[in-house]
Amino acid sequence: MSLSFAQYRESADAITVRIGAFRPQVAMILGSGLGYLADLLEDAVSIPYSDIPHFRAPTAPGHRGRLVFGSLEGRKVAVMQGRIHHYEGYSYEEVAYPVRVLRLLGAGTMFVTNAAGAVNQAFFPGVLMLIADHIKLFGDSPLRGENQIEFGPRFPDASYLYTPSLQKLAKDMAADLNIPLRKGVYMYFPGPQYETPAEIRAARILGADAVGMSTVPEVIAAGHAGMRVLGLSLLSNMAAGILDQPLTEQEVLDAARAASDRFIKLILKCLQNLNCCAALLDRNCETGTDGMLR
Ligand code: HPA
Repeated sequence: MSLSFAQYRESADAITVRIGAFRPQVAMILGSGLGYLADLLEDAVSIPYSDIPHFRAPTAPGHRGRLVFGSLEGRKVAVMQGRIHHYEGYSYEEVAYPVRVLRLLGAGTMFVTNAAGAVNQAFFPGVLMLIADHIKLFGDSPLRGENQIEFGPRFPDASYLYTPSLQKLAKDMAADLNIPLRKGVYMYFPGPQYETPAEIRAARILGADAVGMSTVPEVIAAGHAGMRVLGLSLLSNMAAGILDQPLTEQEVLDAARAASDRFIKLILKCLQNLNCCAALLDRNCETGTDGMLR
């Protein structure tokens, strides 16, 4: 079932009542263990998802469920503290819903992070990976159903979903901070079960460097709506079958927590230096009289 443009507008309008004239430049979707970044915002306005019409509540551990608006490193940001996943029972369109609402509120750039399993055997747990591209072969798309032309075209290009200038920014900032950063392809698996060793071997043959259960639906919707995207993964574990041991959620959460300071340092530095890509910040959008986003 497609959500209507009026529903997106209704959510955006309900948020506007709370944030007034504040217009976020950067939407941030943070994976497990990074939600505390929202506590660093100045002049923060925090809105529980339950107060926003059509927003769904996260059920995953470590995902709080509120949107926090405020200033960070001189940028106006909207931090999603907690995200929802397809494996929780939500459609891909529902998973991507907040991204489109934040786009309507003005965000032209999205930073998205996750924890992922390393498929590339030259990578190791604790390392950060810049997402250069993704593979999603399973299930449908958040754009399935009637096209919301106000956001973008029926058949959007997906050649540059992970904005090259933002990839360069992250690479340069990681080098400045002396933070090792790998670059690779993230392959989406719907979960909630971790992959089998055979699936991981298949993923490697297909060109994946990491696997995970999030991010891709949101990035597809962001790209459709013309947003610039920076995607970063924390490699929390070696993917199934690489080491002779089972995967556990605790291992993922512990690794995410252990890397969180480094991860947040990199995100803040990227945010601070976004002005070297000034055009990115000019992508704040308006809705024209014809209802189309500009
Ligand atoms: N597979 C899928 N999702 C994940 C993994 C994994 O190995 N690690 C963290 N999220």
